[in-house]
Amino acid sequence: MLKIVYPGTFDPITYGHIDIIERGLRMFDQLIVAINANPGKQIFFSVEERVDLVKKALKKYKERIIVEPFKGLIVNYMTKRNINIILRGIRTTSDYEYEFQMALTNRHLCKNIETIFIVASEEYEFVSSSLLKEIALLGGDLKYFVPRVVENAIRKKIKAAKLRLD
Ligand code: COA
Repeated sequence: MLKIVYPGTFDPITYGHIDIIERGLRMFDQLIVAINANPGKQIFFSVEERVDLVKKALKKYKERIIVEPFKGLIVNYMTKRNINIILRGIRTTSDYEYEFQMALTNRHLCKNIETIFIVASEEYEFVSSSLLKEIALLGGDLKYFVPRVVENAIRKKIKAAKLRLD
């Protein structure tokens, strides 16, 4: 069985990530979405919420997808899971520089690890999790960016935060 790990922060999952996942599933039998529990950036959703949203957004692929959090180095997680291929998406040339550096670092840390890049669909080239959170905060339409279940979760969280501030 060919397996691949797609790691990321997924704060939250977007149609851009789903595009990469669907392309990955065309080549691999099983795909593990590994969610970084403690990214070094401010997060909107807790790790439990991020896992839950990814599971809900990918419900139709549930036989071939595992969603779980990881802590620490991705290469250690991969070794524990006994999988040696990382999947990453490239949207723009600036993504490439960051991804290239990350792939080399991971290979340096663990020589068996390979990274496969999939070029994102051009319709999602500009999509990013922080951009859509800003749109949500300012009352914009999220339909194009995220599945309904994710949109509802974002709106609920914003509403709760506003109530706390009032
Ligand atoms: N479509 C839409 N958006 C995408 C995307 C796609 N195909 N690919 C990436 N993005 C966006 C994300 O939404 C996110 O947006 P934001 O910055 O506005 O929130 C941004 O691009 C980057 O997200 P992501 O792909 O989740 O990467 P990341 O940089 O947050 O996390 C890890 C990358 C988790 C793989 C990496 O940090 C890691 O492995 N960390 C563990 C510690 C470790 O091993 N460090 C050494 C690694 S070299």
